Amino acid sequence: MGSVRWAFRCGSWTPTGSDWQFAARCVQREEKDRIEKFVFAKDAKSAMAGRLLLRKCVCERMGIPWSAIRLERSPRGKPYLAAPLKVRPDPGPEPPAWSFNLSHQGDYAVLAAEQGVQVGVDIMKTTMPGSSSVPEFFRIMTRQFTAYEWSVIQSGGSEQQQLAAFYRHWALKESFIKAIGTGLGFNLQRVEFHLSPEPLTQKYALRQTKMHLDEEEDDDWVFEESLLDTDHHVAVALGPADNADSAPLRPALPPPTSFTLLSFSDLIASASPLTEEDPACWDRFKMKAEAPQRQKETHAST
Ligand SMILES: CC(C)(COP(=O)(O)OP(=O)(O)OC[C@H]1O[C@@H](n2cnc3c(N)ncnc32)[C@H](O)[C@@H]1OP(=O)(O)O)[C@@H](O)C(=O)NCCC(=O)NCCS
Repeated sequence: MGSVRWAFRCGSWTPTGSDWQFAARCVQREEKDRIEKFVFAKDAKSAMAGRLLLRKCVCERMGIPWSAIRLERSPRGKPYLAAPLKVRPDPGPEPPAWSFNLSHQGDYAVLAAEQGVQVGVDIMKTTMPGSSSVPEFFRIMTRQFTAYEWSVIQSGGSEQQQLAAFYRHWALKESFIKAIGTGLGFNLQRVEFHLSPEPLTQKYALRQTKMHLDEEEDDDWVFEESLLDTDHHVAVALGPADNADSAPLRPALPPPTSFTLLSFSDLIASASPLTEEDPACWDRFKMKAEAPQRQKETHAST
């Protein structure tokens, strides 16, 4: 069984013209068009990094040539490998299928992939709310968490600690929702997290946090939590594959892996162009502002 945990620091990525043009040629045309539509460079860079992470993972871990990879999205937006369906030309049993997912928020894009299980990943940066006080922000978010989760979040000392607990819970919930692929259509009150008492660290991933589904502890799911830096939480949800029998997931999983930080050269190490040169895409990218003014100020104040 294989595991991949990769991170790319897109927040501090300042692509050159040739970097950006090459990257734009190495993603599917409809994704290039989608990325071009972002108003802000920050969003375009994180979406681009996400596409390169996905293709790199499929190419290097599943052994599929970059140009043969065809990624599509489920009706709710989750990317999956649409072609080629058979990875190995030789007969014999297929190895367990890979599942992958990505997230981009704050300063990073992250990808988690695993063989034989469902995967969802979510990264959250602890930031002060943009336009309201912390209590008002929590009030608006009341329905996203259970009464027990709010008691844990609000038991943190300072507002910064409460926000860190809030975003930790958020990343956990999102990672589960992203693994099952349902997006907004899931009642978040059905899942409740019981956090590991051990503090999160940048050095290794913890797997102690438990999920309760419909008020019962659910041991079919495992959650890996780590910090990429002091204010970026990452949660990886690992659940039974759709076709899995009732064997417990935990003994089958390899030990938790921490995220490896990739450079842009790593991202494109296996890449090959899929579309023709388009120098104008760099001109269009250069015209974009980095981020909305309010977001820049909010992040600067944290
Ligand atoms: C769209 C959604 C999947 C996550 O979006 P997000 O947290 O804003 O964004 P992230 O950066 O974590 O993830 C985005 C990536 O997830 C993937 N994704 C998109 N739809 C997905 C889905 N239905 N399931 C799993 N992954 C999905 C994509 O790769 C996407 O990046 P891309 O569009 O650049 O390829 C969805 O979970 C959502 O809308 N969630 C909000 C629900 C909510 O209220 N959550 C509160 C939690 S407490």
